[in-house]
Amino acid sequence: MKLLVRNIGKIVGIRPAGCLRLCGEEMSRLEMLDDAWLLADEGRIAAFGRMSDCPSGDGAQVVDAGGGMLFPSFCDSHTHLVYAGSREQEFLDKIAGLSYEEIAKRGGGILNSADRLHATSEEELYTQAMARVHEIIRMGTGCVEIKSGYGLSTEDELKMLRVIRRIRETAPLAVRATFLGAHAVAWAYVGRQKEYVDLVCNEMLPAVAREGLADFVDVFCDEGFFTVDETVRIIEVGRSLGLRAKIHANELAVSGGVQAGVAHGALSVDHLERMGAEEIEALRGSATMPTLLPGAAFFLGMSYPPARDMIRAGLGVALASDYNPGSSPSGNMRMVVSLASIRMKMTPAEALNAATLNSAYAMGLSDEYGSITPGKVANFFLTDPMPSVEFFSYAYQTPLIRRVFLRGGEYAE
Ligand code: NIG
Ligand code: FE
Repeated sequence: MKLLVRNIGKIVGIRPAGCLRLCGEEMSRLEMLDDAWLLADEGRIAAFGRMSDCPSGDGAQVVDAGGGMLFPSFCDSHTHLVYAGSREQEFLDKIAGLSYEEIAKRGGGILNSADRLHATSEEELYTQAMARVHEIIRMGTGCVEIKSGYGLSTEDELKMLRVIRRIRETAPLAVRATFLGAHAVAWAYVGRQKEYVDLVCNEMLPAVAREGLADFVDVFCDEGFFTVDETVRIIEVGRSLGLRAKIHANELAVSGGVQAGVAHGALSVDHLERMGAEEIEALRGSATMPTLLPGAAFFLGMSYPPARDMIRAGLGVALASDYNPGSSPSGNMRMVVSLASIRMKMTPAEALNAATLNSAYAMGLSDEYGSITPGKVANFFLTDPMPSVEFFSYAYQTPLIRRVFLRGGEYAE
């Protein structure tokens, strides 16, 4: 099946093949082509060029972009979008002045979601999660990582991961699965954290690997959750089972999680609201992608990660939504990109690169997704005509995304 898109005002995010991530100054470069066409064939980008030499389109489905722009789909490398119900009661608690840690201590937070998930069938969980998947596809996401971590028992973690597998099999976007058994210590293990970590290492991880349910292993390495030693133990067991690490680090405190992640070959370290010069130094020259989740900082009223210092130090950064019921009940990557500019002073070009190619890298998928490159999967969206690329970040609430294409076909729910 061929698809020819004509009359594109601007193709945004063109990259040569083999460019797997962008670091430091490279992040400010966004390659574009004006007045263009793009051809997809068998679900992949085949070619693009100027309208002055547009191919005939014989035998292809022809779409007229009407002068709008074409962007590579967003890649969202950090979500928890499989969950049961919602937690707006905690939203009210926050308005009344309680902190995230205080809510967690009162049995809210992750343990609240674990109780709800336990009481929800696999079928119902799938239905709820698919509604969120369709929501993010409409908002331009074409590639997503989804974590477990609201199960907190072997049975319920497997239940979550099977739901993620089913999403992967049935949804038109690309999905990567992460096992996050060490998201919090389960109710049944309160006061026995070591035994819970034993359970994660000796029972959960082997069961997850046996069923081939995860691509990555994650740990919430932070004050009040899991220590650096526990994190290292879990990610090393994960590594022995073929799962690379992606770590929640430095959200609540300078946790040591960044250094541990780099030293143990993590693909990404995520959150990073609390970062010092040592953390930035540890990341320099490493293959680990620091991933910023400004939606969580926004929703919880926390300080934002020091994106400018990181880019100035030559690091690449990725952006993701953290879509979850507690700290970021939104998977809107456009909002994330705008927040990155508004609150972290990333330029629109840097933010778009962070939310596409670098976020694909943070899922190990940047050879296939994250830019307009011949040979990559044809995941992109068309916008209404806009005066500039920057307008897309600036007019952050205007519904500019007009049509979405995944694997070379138009998405229609
Ligand atoms: O990434 N920080 C840990 N986990 C999630 C929040 C999960 C929740 O509150 O349900 C996060 O922010
Ligand atoms: Fe998270």
